[in-house]
Amino acid sequence: MAKKQFDVAVVGAGIGGYIAAIRCAQLGLKTACIEKSKPLGGTCLIVGCIPSKALLQSTEYYDWLMKESQQHGIAAKEVSVDFAKMMQRKTQIVDGLTNGVASLFKKHSIVRYEGTARLTSAHMLELSDKQVIEAENIIIASGSEPIPLPFLPFDEKVVLSSTGALALPTIPKKMIVVGAGIIGVELASVYNRLGTQVVLVEMLDRITPMMDTAVSKSLQSILQKQGLEFHLSAKVTKAKVNANSVSLSVQEGANETEMTADVVLVAIGRRPYTKGLGLTEQGITLDSKGYIEVDGNFRTKQSHIYAIGDVIEGPMLAHKASEEGVAVAEIIAGQQPHLNYMAIPNVIYTHPEVASVGLTEAEAREAGMELAIGTCFMRAIGRARCLGYVEGFVKVIGEKNSGRLLGLHILSPHASEMIGEGVIAIEKKATLQDLAAASHAHPTLSEAIHEASLAALGHPLAF
Ligand code: NAI
Repeated sequence: MAKKQFDVAVVGAGIGGYIAAIRCAQLGLKTACIEKSKPLGGTCLIVGCIPSKALLQSTEYYDWLMKESQQHGIAAKEVSVDFAKMMQRKTQIVDGLTNGVASLFKKHSIVRYEGTARLTSAHMLELSDKQVIEAENIIIASGSEPIPLPFLPFDEKVVLSSTGALALPTIPKKMIVVGAGIIGVELASVYNRLGTQVVLVEMLDRITPMMDTAVSKSLQSILQKQGLEFHLSAKVTKAKVNANSVSLSVQEGANETEMTADVVLVAIGRRPYTKGLGLTEQGITLDSKGYIEVDGNFRTKQSHIYAIGDVIEGPMLAHKASEEGVAVAEIIAGQQPHLNYMAIPNVIYTHPEVASVGLTEAEAREAGMELAIGTCFMRAIGRARCLGYVEGFVKVIGEKNSGRLLGLHILSPHASEMIGEGVIAIEKKATLQDLAAASHAHPTLSEAIHEASLAALGHPLAF
């Protein structure tokens, strides 16, 4: 058979797709990448992780100046927010990173096509401008999209998805957030710090349900103290959208209340995006939730067509997608990569941050294991006191007999940077004894991991 135009064609240049394309090129494969939007980088870089973290950082500085600086003996006078400039900074950061991806494509000689792609035969993709690309292997990395409430479509003016909430022209006076998951609490924090009155409506009886229950409960009480208002076990039943406001009927137990706000952010999850790809016509199957079905090597029902990232089952996390991007490229190149889903961390960038890896206590108990659990509260840690933030804790969960670390859960400033220790520990099958025996620099926040491990072993030193 004649060789195809490309060894690999990647559909989608989000963090899964662009990393897959780069790794394919590094491995000597002739690679194309098709992306419908002009900038490269997808949800994470353009309308997700990066812009939200830029705004979280800016608003955290502002909040610190307004509320915390005095305890350090610093008087901040006439502090004000230039929202347009804050948004401009966010856009500049995004532009810098998306341009960086374009340079990486050039460096690795990845052929970039702008447009949408549709499978027209086993090895052929037709682009929106009618160009046709042929490839030996195809990687679908088309990502995900926000889920709307069925009776409340996004208009990105009054009814916002995270995309609209990251690009508001002005600071709203009042915002209702439906869904107190990761996006809900992060963006609620941004606007609460800017003075918006924020009310969150969550269907379940706790916020951030993917996190360990103890962490969710403490995070909720900390966020409440910061000014967020939560309505749990609450359901939006009706909505009326006006020109500059929205009214929601919210059912909480037997009570139905009316809530009105300038904007509503709907953050009830995301769903895989496969529209227009022509997958089923080529025999590629989707599961009941719309995820592309793949085997353990990311192969769809067509063994030379692979899928990775948000479009397949699993946590919708940027670093999960990029790990899969590397793995799929190495599989196509004939290697046998290693990817351990137990060792994929999850972070929420509130203040304090939340980070976790491995099993929650409930998951470990459900698995029927006997546990050794240790908790160290941040107030016992000298560095936390120097920082001026003593709320939060570190919780380690180990298997009692073997001592093996099963889960690490952190509610602390800089938790996102601390969780790496747990990732390596779980990856390398480390024990509580290993964590307790390892020297942790003093004074650091990571001493809380050391102390929590000692506590799980029954002999903490700092409390
Ligand atoms: P999510 O799954 O984190 O949270 C959705 C929340 O909405 C849940 O608490 C759920 O119980 C609630 N909910 C669902 N239907 C509802 C309804 N009808 N009324 C009220 N509440 C309802 O989803 P989210 O926050 O939209 O994020 C989407 C994805 O993006 C997640 O998979 C998340 O992991 C990822 N992401 C990751 C970030 C990070 O790593 N820091 C940041 C932002 C998003």
